[in-house]
Amino acid sequence: MGKKLIVYYSYTNNTKKIAEQIQKATGADICEIETVKPYTGDYNSVVDQGKQEVDRGFKPEIKPLKANLEDYDTVIIGTPVWWYTYAPAVATFLSEYDLSGKTIIPFATNGGWLGHTLKDIENCCNNATVTKAIDIKFDMDKMAIPEGNLKKWIASI
Ligand SMILES: Cc1cc2nc3c(=O)[nH]c(=O)nc-3n(C[C@H](O)[C@H](O)[C@H](O)COP(=O)(O)O)c2cc1C
Repeated sequence: MGKKLIVYYSYTNNTKKIAEQIQKATGADICEIETVKPYTGDYNSVVDQGKQEVDRGFKPEIKPLKANLEDYDTVIIGTPVWWYTYAPAVATFLSEYDLSGKTIIPFATNGGWLGHTLKDIENCCNNATVTKAIDIKFDMDKMAIPEGNLKKWIASI
């Protein structure tokens, strides 16, 4: 097995918590996707802004990743679900970084409506091998799938 990198975007920290749990259990390197311009305003206004961005296919500018993807064979990609797909910041990451030939393991945190998020990641990474994708539901900031399921998944990746 080659080197693994966890790359994630998180707005309210659910995805960040899972990314950090994976990091602790696997010892993989970890790297956050950050937008140049932070989302501001209350939660509902960001939900509305997110809808407009997803509808337009908008890709916000992101800061340069603090890891060199060439050093990794496997990239574990974490995203919150925004309007049934991956967050716009992750769309930017997927369009700007070359993942061809790598193994991609996606996880998507969400409030119960995963939509086509994982399919969309697969379609976007057609030069890579996308495998072991997982849907991680949350009830607000509490994980709503059994902890054992997450642990089993982490052990399998
Ligand atoms: C702009 C926006 C759109 C969202 N759209 C969905 C959605 O389509 N389906 C869903 O289940 N949850 C949706 N949510 C809830 C988040 O996916 C969920 O809270 C997720 O765990 C947040 O991850 P984070 O804390 O890492 O940002 C949305 C949240 C935001 C801010």
